[in-house]
Amino acid sequence: MSETHESPLRVSLGERSYEIHVAPGALARAGELIPRPGDSTAFIITHPIVARLHGKALAAGLRGLPAETILVPSGERQKSIRRAALLWDELLRRGADRRSLVIAFGGGVIGDLAGFVAATYMRGVPYVQIPTTLLAQVDSSVGGKVAINHPRAKNLIGAFHQPRLVLADVLALSTLSARNYREGLAEVVKHAVIADADLFAWLEQNAAAILQRDPGVLARLVRRNCEIKAGVVSADERETGLRSTLNFGHTAGHAVESLASYGQLRHGEAVAIGMMAAARIARLTGLFPEAEEARLGALLAAFRLPVRIEGASAAAVLDVMRADKKSLGGLPRFVLPTRIGHVEFGREVPAAVVQKALEEVGARD
Ligand SMILES: NC(=O)c1ccc[n+]([C@@H]2O[C@H](COP(=O)([O-])OP(=O)(O)OC[C@H]3O[C@@H](n4cnc5c(N)ncnc54)[C@H](O)[C@@H]3O)[C@@H](O)[C@H]2O)c1
Ligand SMILES: [Zn+2]
Repeated sequence: MSETHESPLRVSLGERSYEIHVAPGALARAGELIPRPGDSTAFIITHPIVARLHGKALAAGLRGLPAETILVPSGERQKSIRRAALLWDELLRRGADRRSLVIAFGGGVIGDLAGFVAATYMRGVPYVQIPTTLLAQVDSSVGGKVAINHPRAKNLIGAFHQPRLVLADVLALSTLSARNYREGLAEVVKHAVIADADLFAWLEQNAAAILQRDPGVLARLVRRNCEIKAGVVSADERETGLRSTLNFGHTAGHAVESLASYGQLRHGEAVAIGMMAAARIARLTGLFPEAEEARLGALLAAFRLPVRIEGASAAAVLDVMRADKKSLGGLPRFVLPTRIGHVEFGREVPAAVVQKALEEVGARD
């Protein structure tokens, strides 16, 4: 992997292009980097815990940019139409207009929710992503997908709304729970498998420093992951093809996630299991060598992520997959690895092969 550069990454999307700045201590540069439309106020949408832990660093970095903070409780349940409506009310009450800037300061929940509010308030106001979880820094803050949940499905109501800037301060990751941090690592492994064999080898070699959250190592890691995601998104902003490679591990992953009882399996953990299921499908199909599958399992285990389905039956997992919003009645198409660093997407797989793979990675028959 290339060295960490001070120069920002650029997401090329014509007039919606933007920069991603990744560095230890990047919050200190917020005021200098955030676009200031006139003297309008910025509205920071964040959680109480993030405000308490990192709000001072952001306030210092903003250096006089007029900003107000709006607090939202933590939790996936906040990605609701009710919370979005409360935020619209709050913006209105505080006099936010079309030139006002929204700053999403938090993990993926804040990014999706504040981004959705920014996409819809007055037909869209500009927003900036300041991600504070590993998942948000390597994945959700880049790409412009914003959403709230519908009672019947996650992320069903949303928009494409690109941020004006992404500012990732890896020092903010020092306060994350171990479990949430590891969830982010699942998406990191995903990026390496779909696009970058060198990154995968680097992760294998640096697993200990990564688990210790060494800031220099993290800056390289986050930067490379943003580069991969930005590359995919720039090539396919609205997911007509290539972008679907980002769903690697998410087909079976979503199914085991939704079958687990509440709190038992987090998203990143389910994705780790889903990647093993996809790898096994690929192996059974003759696409993916056994030795590569073993490397994937070993790296996920080194990051203390689960690699086997526990407690669910293959039939139940198949049922959930068939009901998936992207599957149009049959089984969804799969993203399958052919080697570490390369995947094929849109693969149809016979149900019997999927069932066998699920059983081999732990599902009951
Ligand atoms: N838009 C996209 O492309 C995309 C991609 C992947 C995931 N997502 C979404 O991301 C969400 C999950 O994101 P997440 O894993 O970041 O969860 P999260 O936003 O709920 O954050 C996890 C927890 O960490 C806390 N927290 C955040 N930053 C912290 C910090 N620096 N120190 C201590 N605690 C901190 C939060 O308060 C929360 O309790 C899901 O809703 C998912 O749908 C979106
Ligand atoms: Zn994911």
